[in-house]
Amino acid sequence: MVAPRFHPLTIAAVREETADARCITFTVPPDLRDAYAFVPGQYVTIRIDRACEDLRRSYSICSTPEDDGLSVGVRCIAGGSFSAFARTLDVGDVLDVMTPQGRFLAPIGGVHDYLLLAAGSGITPMMSIARSVLAGESKSRVTLLYANRTSDSIMFRDKLDALKDRYLTRFSLSHILDEEQQEVELLNGRLDRQKLSAFTRAGIIHPDRHDGIYICGPQPMMEEASSVMRDLGAAPDKIHFELFTPPGGPPPVASASPAASEAAAEGVVVEVILDGTRRRFPLDQTGETVLAAARRAGLELPYSCTAGMCCTCRCKIVDGTSEMIQNYSLEPWELKAGYTLACQTRPTSKTLVLDFDAS
Ligand code: FES
Repeated sequence: MVAPRFHPLTIAAVREETADARCITFTVPPDLRDAYAFVPGQYVTIRIDRACEDLRRSYSICSTPEDDGLSVGVRCIAGGSFSAFARTLDVGDVLDVMTPQGRFLAPIGGVHDYLLLAAGSGITPMMSIARSVLAGESKSRVTLLYANRTSDSIMFRDKLDALKDRYLTRFSLSHILDEEQQEVELLNGRLDRQKLSAFTRAGIIHPDRHDGIYICGPQPMMEEASSVMRDLGAAPDKIHFELFTPPGGPPPVASASPAASEAAAEGVVVEVILDGTRRRFPLDQTGETVLAAARRAGLELPYSCTAGMCCTCRCKIVDGTSEMIQNYSLEPWELKAGYTLACQTRPTSKTLVLDFDAS
């Protein structure tokens, strides 16, 4: 497996989707096509330097694997340092873009009946999933419930309309608005428990029958929708959503265990294997993680969220022992196989060898 890495990509197009959302398309040069191949639902991380600070933000891919270029949807949040920068971006600008990551996946192939639940900019990965499934699986169906405040805040509106016209019998689209009255009462309000139950009673969605239910939007909406889907009969393994911050907000950082404190006090030598090359650096500060120590030593390891959520820093423990502060992304089988998250790993032995190339 090739570890995630950044490459400079040039912006080929910028399109205003709404007053505060833009779709940015990057050119992917022929020699990087394989590196940027993705499964619908994945995201990329963009890195910028602001006042000597390394800022990273993850954005879901809204294009399909067949499109020319790779597009992301960016909602510009008032006061957000990255958002202010995103507003200035134009054709020809070059940004550091990480190769696609993420486990919110809708692989194409077969026959499916998918339900997509999106709110606001959560539509971004759904565009990729809906377009890819409808074009690539001639018998599959997609039902999309898309919630916004008003019709002006609907991203990709014309593309969604075109999709509806093109796949009349296989694509069902409902716009739900909570600050603008629509004639059909079912379409007014929020995408909450009541609304999802009402859509189920109306026979528009079938939580117990869909092959996959993909949910993307603000975190409370995703947590509520996923719980409602389970209550309405959806099997847990059919429900897909990806959190970028821990449920309930970031927990206080746990102090290092006595073993980790002792190892750091004595000084640990960490060795990483990345892109086939071995590099060493010291870790000698109590409570410090492998990722933090590597950055202090000037070594670039792959990372994005630094919160145990995204899995970009996943690596395998080859030698030594360690503890993880928190983990929201590694599956039980990965923990059993010896994988860890570098952004959350504190060594508990004198040496620790981590392989970022391990698949
Ligand atoms: S950087 Fe996201 S889990 Fe470590």
